Amino acid sequence: MDTVLSGIRSTGNLHLGNYFGAVKNFVKMQHENRCYFFVADYHALTTHPTPENLHKNIRTVISEYLAAGLDPEVATLYIQSDVPEISELYLLLNMNAYVGELERTTTFKDKIRKQPENINAGLLTYPVLMCADIIIHNADKVPVGKDQEQNLEMARKFARRFNHMYGVEYFKMPEPYNFGEELVKVPGLDGTGKMGKSEGNGIYLSDEPSAIRKKVMRAVTDAGPQEPNSPMTEPIANLFYLLDLLSTPDTVQHFRDSYNNCTIRYGDLKKQLAEDVITFTTPIRERINDIHNDSEYLRKVVKMGAEKARESASKTVREVREIIGYKPF
Ligand code: TYM
Repeated sequence: MDTVLSGIRSTGNLHLGNYFGAVKNFVKMQHENRCYFFVADYHALTTHPTPENLHKNIRTVISEYLAAGLDPEVATLYIQSDVPEISELYLLLNMNAYVGELERTTTFKDKIRKQPENINAGLLTYPVLMCADIIIHNADKVPVGKDQEQNLEMARKFARRFNHMYGVEYFKMPEPYNFGEELVKVPGLDGTGKMGKSEGNGIYLSDEPSAIRKKVMRAVTDAGPQEPNSPMTEPIANLFYLLDLLSTPDTVQHFRDSYNNCTIRYGDLKKQLAEDVITFTTPIRERINDIHNDSEYLRKVVKMGAEKARESASKTVREVREIIGYKPF
């Protein structure tokens, strides 16, 4: 049985990118694997949230995981900061992570561009903490979107380096994974790039139908196909990508045909897409609202998750300490 682990930063509500990148197939497959799913709330500190925001967002992510179908009795669902063993492993791994390689990571370079006023050491060592998250349970597989591929490569590098330094075969090499399907990059509605929390181009699982309609109708398009079977520009290809994820094959085919014979009206496509998003998110949104307000249930879930996660994490840290040379007298 494989150990499968994934995480989401507690920086806001879950959007369709998070869902299709990291959650959807996990929900389907949670019964067939040993599963860990957690809220990355240490990682969230790299952007300096206020205490109120941090707390609110942790609750949001837990509630939305549950509403999307993660079963806390089956998977281990926990909050990163409830498992202090992760910070110890992070500290130990930091000693074997080199500043040069961390500075070259794409996500770090992106952050330098996006938040030049706050280039903290946590951002630099972000991949080390992510590696600790993964190898603390010796995960085989990590469901993530395409944007996390490089961080996974770093995780394998640090795990391999540990094994090599101490001459052990202790850590497995975790692979990015989407249950047999390609890793996905769900596009945003602004015509270019991926859907993201900081990009402001997202559709959230918790969005009300009116908000979804407004966002989708405002999505960037182009002047329309000028001749039959012309290639799609990025904004149009992105709308079709979303349609592929959320609509029936017949609907997708209908709009592809009308694009190819130049009769397409983007307004019709957007209307259809908005309704299909709403059909998909409505049951999840309703569950989010119920779960978010149920403090007693949430308390129970995170307590149970922390206990299960700490059991596995403390075993790893105990063994790693011994391997490094911290042994009882
Ligand atoms: P985060 O919080 O940015 O995103 C959480 C998950 O959602 C995926 N994702 C997407 N997938 C497809 N298309 C998109 N537009 C899209 N946007 C987000 C991400 O790939 C990710 O799988 N560093 C991680 C959190 C993390 C983690 C871990 C993940 C911390 N430790 C250990 C896996 C294992 C992050 O910031 O994800």
